[in-house]
Amino acid sequence: MNTPHSDRLVIFGITGDLAHKMTLPSLYHLEKRGLLNVAIIGVAKDALSDDQLWAMTRAAVRSVESAAGHEVDEQVLTRLVERMTFVGGDFLDAGLYERLAAHLGDAAHPLFYLEIPPSLFGPVVEQLGAAGLTEGARVAVEKPFGTSLDSARELNDRLHKVLDEDQILRIDHYLGKEPVQDIAFVRFANSWLEPLWRRQYIEMIQITMAEPFGVEDRGSFYDHVGTLRDVVQNHLLQVLALVLMEPPGAGSDPIGHRRLDVFEAIRPLAPADVVRGQYEGYRGIPGVSADSQTETFVAARFHCDTWRWAGVPIMVRSGKKLPVKATEVVVRFRKPPHFSWGGRVQHVAGHDDFLIQIGDPSGIAFGLRVKKPGVDEVEPQMLSLDFPSTIGDLPTPYERLLHDAMTGDHTLFPRWPAVEATWRIVQPVLDAPPPVLPYAAGTWGPPEADRMARHWGGWRDPRARA
Ligand code: BG6
Repeated sequence: MNTPHSDRLVIFGITGDLAHKMTLPSLYHLEKRGLLNVAIIGVAKDALSDDQLWAMTRAAVRSVESAAGHEVDEQVLTRLVERMTFVGGDFLDAGLYERLAAHLGDAAHPLFYLEIPPSLFGPVVEQLGAAGLTEGARVAVEKPFGTSLDSARELNDRLHKVLDEDQILRIDHYLGKEPVQDIAFVRFANSWLEPLWRRQYIEMIQITMAEPFGVEDRGSFYDHVGTLRDVVQNHLLQVLALVLMEPPGAGSDPIGHRRLDVFEAIRPLAPADVVRGQYEGYRGIPGVSADSQTETFVAARFHCDTWRWAGVPIMVRSGKKLPVKATEVVVRFRKPPHFSWGGRVQHVAGHDDFLIQIGDPSGIAFGLRVKKPGVDEVEPQMLSLDFPSTIGDLPTPYERLLHDAMTGDHTLFPRWPAVEATWRIVQPVLDAPPPVLPYAAGTWGPPEADRMARHWGGWRDPRARA
């Protein structure tokens, strides 16, 4: 790949929550792996000294590492903080960018990473442009990229006035997850699977992203967003694209193009194919409107109009206050037509589910039917591979994405046509949302969501044995 490595990393929003929980610990991991070789400039509106930035970074890394049960390598942490300096000021003030320019010195290819409120993406990029800082630079922006098709287009136009598409990296941290990348690896690095991965053999595809917690600490943010915008338009459609895409060929950004083909083949969602739910108690959360119609659960049926997938039901569900934390893709194979043994037709119990677990646990499993010992009956079993215990600890999503952003590898960053296409898919439901139905905390959403999948064997419960 012929793109220059970034020669500075400038983090806007370094004092924020995401930086504490994800960015700083991920930079520590990159430092540990010898993959960090740039000076880092932290930017925030607070007035911090470099020493305070160092102390904050040390505290953030220690707290995340100890929560994960890892010992911190203090030498690595020292190497990391010694790369860091701080520039503070109001993001809308041109003076900040003058100070930043002085700080950047002779940097020719800085990476500006914007982990700041989305309303500031446009203004900050404009200020960077006005200060002459964008030539040769790349800009990584956090989610959300817009809140609707129109607002995403507006934001994109604004960024494109200053930057070329190749300079923009839109972050979707799900694409940075190793088990998500594994979907493509498992599909295309094993030749036995590929011929079966199509409508002739597959009965349905489903994705469940379940979270047991609510939105207590971020009610005012969430009430303007809802599940469809928060995780379906971005994370889950990106996962789905890897499940449905054709094999990537040669050429530039083959994976990005194949993902885009999928988005273009998925029909805009029909409101009748969507169930929206809201957990009981949600309206009492600070920041949530007393008559809120925002969904905290969504189940949707997608249609992908390609030869490979025509007619295959593709179901996606996600919600807060569900019974468990899990994200999994289930590819359900058709049942065999007929099987007799010992003079009688065997009941082929269970499902031929091929399972890709993306969250915690993460791994691959698939259903295999075998003979029940001593009896002429079919017994469903699962063959499973747990990633952490078999192939080791996985790098964090931000470790991967920050590294790729610095090397200019766009594979795991959705380009504008893909982002536009995903907004186009969900927009009809944003325009005409079906009513929001109540569900009790700790359940799988409104019963209507179960009905949607019943005909094809129902949703898989992630708690079932993998
Ligand atoms: C974020 C959403 O993008 O993803 C959150 O805003 C959600 O609502 C989170 O909880 C889930 O990410 P992960 O990596 O914990 O599955």
